[in-house]
Amino acid sequence: MNAPTESRPLDITPFRARRERLLERMAAAGGGVAILATAPERPRNRDAHYPYRHDSYFYYLSGFTEPEAVVVLVAGEQPSQILFCRQRDEEQEIWNGYRHGPEAARERFGFDEAWTIGDLERRLPDFLANQPVLWCGLGYDNEWDTRVIAALNAVRDKARTGIIPPHSVRDVRADLDEMRLFKDDTELAIMRRAAKISAEAHRRAMLATRPGRFEYEIEAELLHAFRAAGSQFPAYTSIVASGANACVLHYVENDRRMIDGELLLIDAGCELDGYASDITRTFPVNGRFSGPQRELYELVLAAQHAARAEIRPGAHWNQPHEAAVEVLAQGLLDLGLLEGSLDGVLERGDYRRFYMHRTGHWLGMDVHDAGEYKVGGAWRALEEGMVLTVEPGCYVRPGEGVPEAFWNIGIRIEDDAVVTAAGCEFITEDAPKSVADIEALMREAGHG
Ligand code: GLY
Ligand code: MN
Ligand code: MN
Repeated sequence: MNAPTESRPLDITPFRARRERLLERMAAAGGGVAILATAPERPRNRDAHYPYRHDSYFYYLSGFTEPEAVVVLVAGEQPSQILFCRQRDEEQEIWNGYRHGPEAARERFGFDEAWTIGDLERRLPDFLANQPVLWCGLGYDNEWDTRVIAALNAVRDKARTGIIPPHSVRDVRADLDEMRLFKDDTELAIMRRAAKISAEAHRRAMLATRPGRFEYEIEAELLHAFRAAGSQFPAYTSIVASGANACVLHYVENDRRMIDGELLLIDAGCELDGYASDITRTFPVNGRFSGPQRELYELVLAAQHAARAEIRPGAHWNQPHEAAVEVLAQGLLDLGLLEGSLDGVLERGDYRRFYMHRTGHWLGMDVHDAGEYKVGGAWRALEEGMVLTVEPGCYVRPGEGVPEAFWNIGIRIEDDAVVTAAGCEFITEDAPKSVADIEALMREAGHG
């Protein structure tokens, strides 16, 4: 069986460059050997599996998407990059599809050596012998942890032959997290494409929404737009939440019939070539915002503008959140949802009754991506090439002291931002966001 035609030929240069950078970091920290496995296949029921998704760290270094694969990187004077992967197997390939096999994989993915995964147990102790440090990522998969420890023990068993086992084990993810935080040009190009596909999906969802339809019908429009544009998966389970459901932050049932006069909150983004996008839009089911809906919507949008204005190199991580909270708190006071002074509301955190999450997170291969938010106890400074979401919201559950006009309104507006030298670039803004743009688009679909 031949290799399938690649819909987007993979340029292996950035993957090799990342392996080299990691090897340099390892060498600078005392050398050693890194071992990283991809994700295991997970059974869903009986002999059916969940759709397979590689491990992000593994993919970041290899570009390789088959299951049962391991990268070994040996630091030192003669660094070496090794891939273990499944052997070619005609019978298996007839049933389950193409496998590269070590020989083709070595060449295609730019490794120095490649071996069949069945050889891993036998070869790992040799790679670990006389190496000062084992770099790995424990605690994600028990079975993998057991295999790594078995390899360590196998080296220890050879002590009497004069072989010295690694005397320390380090988490390789700490270094990889730091590398992953700064997106290279290849990654940014993919993330921009993912953002465009998701933005288009949100437009499609707006056009399809009307009173009487079910939330899942709109979810189907999103999934159609993602997949038809070549994305492999949704980056996370889509939230399609109408009416009071929008006040449940992680609502995913998506099975309610939408009613005239309500808002629909959609938080959905595709994963393209291993990279996530993450967009939320909130809009009226009938195409026209009511008075109270518009007031709260404009407030959340103003909070997003305020947050965005704080994104630039040198600003610290929490500045956008603080800016959003201040605008929201003042607006909630003005609308009679909160009482007291702005300082008091901020100090006591009263706004958390209506805004209980943070304004963003790192975005990359994982929707809540790798990377520390604090360094040395202080919020980390933003730098060029970082990607984050900006997602203020407001969720009003019925309750004492809450004006009834606002009950059950839930709004979030979420865009994906790249930190640039000049400040920031929102890459998801093709999805309509202003009241005027949303209402205009929905008029196209025959609303109002
Ligand atoms: N969709 C997950 C989030 O917005 O964080
Ligand atoms: Mn998000
Ligand atoms: Mn989201």
